[in-house]
Amino acid sequence: MEYKKIISERLSTLTGLSTETIEKLIEIPPKPDMGDFAFPCFQLAKTLRKAPNLISQELKDKIDKSGFEKVEAVGGYLNFFVDKSYLAKNTLSKILTEKEKYGHSNIGKGKTITIDFSSPNIAKPFHVGHLYSTAIGNALYKMFSSQGYKCVGINHLGDWGTQFGKLIAAYKRWVDEEALEKEPIKELLRIYVKFHEEAEKDPSLEDIARMHFKNLEDGKEEEVMLWKKIKEVSLIEFNRIYDMLKIKFDSYAGESFYNDKMDEVVELLQEKGLLTESKGALVVNLDEYNMPPCIIKKSDGATIYATRDLAAAIYRKRTYDFYKNIYVVGTPQTLHFKQVFTTLKLMGFDWADDCIHVGFGLVKFADKKLSTRKGDVIFLEDLLKEAIERAKELIEQKNASLENKDEVAKVVGIGAVVFTYLKNNRERDIIFSWEDILNFDGETGPYVQYSYARGRSVLRKANGYDISNTDFSKLNSQEETELIKLLASFNDVIINALEKYEPSILTRYIIDVAKTFNKFYNLHPILSVEDEMLKNARLALVDATTIVIKNGLSLLGIDVVERM
Ligand code: ARG
Repeated sequence: MEYKKIISERLSTLTGLSTETIEKLIEIPPKPDMGDFAFPCFQLAKTLRKAPNLISQELKDKIDKSGFEKVEAVGGYLNFFVDKSYLAKNTLSKILTEKEKYGHSNIGKGKTITIDFSSPNIAKPFHVGHLYSTAIGNALYKMFSSQGYKCVGINHLGDWGTQFGKLIAAYKRWVDEEALEKEPIKELLRIYVKFHEEAEKDPSLEDIARMHFKNLEDGKEEEVMLWKKIKEVSLIEFNRIYDMLKIKFDSYAGESFYNDKMDEVVELLQEKGLLTESKGALVVNLDEYNMPPCIIKKSDGATIYATRDLAAAIYRKRTYDFYKNIYVVGTPQTLHFKQVFTTLKLMGFDWADDCIHVGFGLVKFADKKLSTRKGDVIFLEDLLKEAIERAKELIEQKNASLENKDEVAKVVGIGAVVFTYLKNNRERDIIFSWEDILNFDGETGPYVQYSYARGRSVLRKANGYDISNTDFSKLNSQEETELIKLLASFNDVIINALEKYEPSILTRYIIDVAKTFNKFYNLHPILSVEDEMLKNARLALVDATTIVIKNGLSLLGIDVVERM
């Protein structure tokens, strides 16, 4: 929050270093007796050719100490102890006036960020792995937007490629229209699998599939019609999931969108002399970068996934003039993106450096019941539905008289799943187990949502409080100070999470807020306090905590409920 800024400004006038440099250097000490903020003087010592402990002493004597209880020089560190009542008053009034805008800023004003996320493949299941990209992408979208960036969410649908030749061949032979109507992707998957089985017995089917794809590329009516139909029914199903998750995209420009933009890419590469022939294919040699070549055109003349990503990146730069261009895609595609970004750079596009691959790991299942036979996939929709059912059972047990149980079960069930995905350091694999994700006492979505509802219930019972009759300096217990400090760092946490493209930093922060809140709640009475000014101060703290939890979860794409 403000503190780092205040310290940086004061130190900047004293040292001549820029406020940005100082802000980056400021640390949060590991122990409270070392202060709330610390400025290491070692870098300064090098430029000034002076001992760090002398510098810290001098700065300590000269610095303006208002807003701080004390400032100490310990070795090469300058330690700042914030004035607790000043901290409480400033932080809580800021939260209570800014409300749903608390934590937001304008640092991204005028800058656009394109975020390619979710991007499932048409006619294939939207499986549990896709939620990883969907949840992270959506969280980054909301978090960047909260800092004033203009975000463009792009669903780069996998809607082109030779597999459509096979699907069309299969469709014409075996589709059950009624099943397609009911469960389109299950039916498309069934005929796709059947195609492969049949093609083993009768290899001529492969030729037929190739012919259908060729016809599709040439724009022949029947193939185009069937391709459109397959895409349409798949999208209906995907949209059902996006609706459940309340996720929206600004663009559905998928792979097929770039069909008429491929020639230009190939020409540009040719002009730059980047294309070489290798076994009949056209490739960009990347030996110098220790990477296998980036294939542009296969020996049959067809362009591929990578070519489309080159066209897409160029299109995005031209259309959106992005500041950053982000791809939220699993780590197995790390090499692919390195090849694409390096090729863009070789083409002379310096903005290739602004393209970022945000990778993530795999989703594994600990529950016996969930792990399926090899080759089977778990449909995300089934998983979400099960989460809602299980949440409903838990709510029945905990609070049978609750009014809108179905609505609450939806928010809690879906929230629990999304929270699990976002709690994880994204490059690590997720081990999914129902026990863990729906545990009301663990580090889970329901735990945080429950903490929020608990706070709201206190505020309802208090029936309002008079903020003008409040003494913030009375919030001086360890638990209260700890909680206020956490609430004050909300914006810092968001910025830090964005710098690393790591929503889990925000998720863990929200867990911390909920835990610290519960500690405070369990140790300190609120409604029964006689001292009106202390009672009001505690109610203001509860109020501010619920605002931060709600804002934080909302940036992750998770809702709260007032009662549960
Ligand atoms: N459809 C791809 C998949 O499911 C992900 C696409 C990611 N975006 C991109 N621009 N390549 O693996």
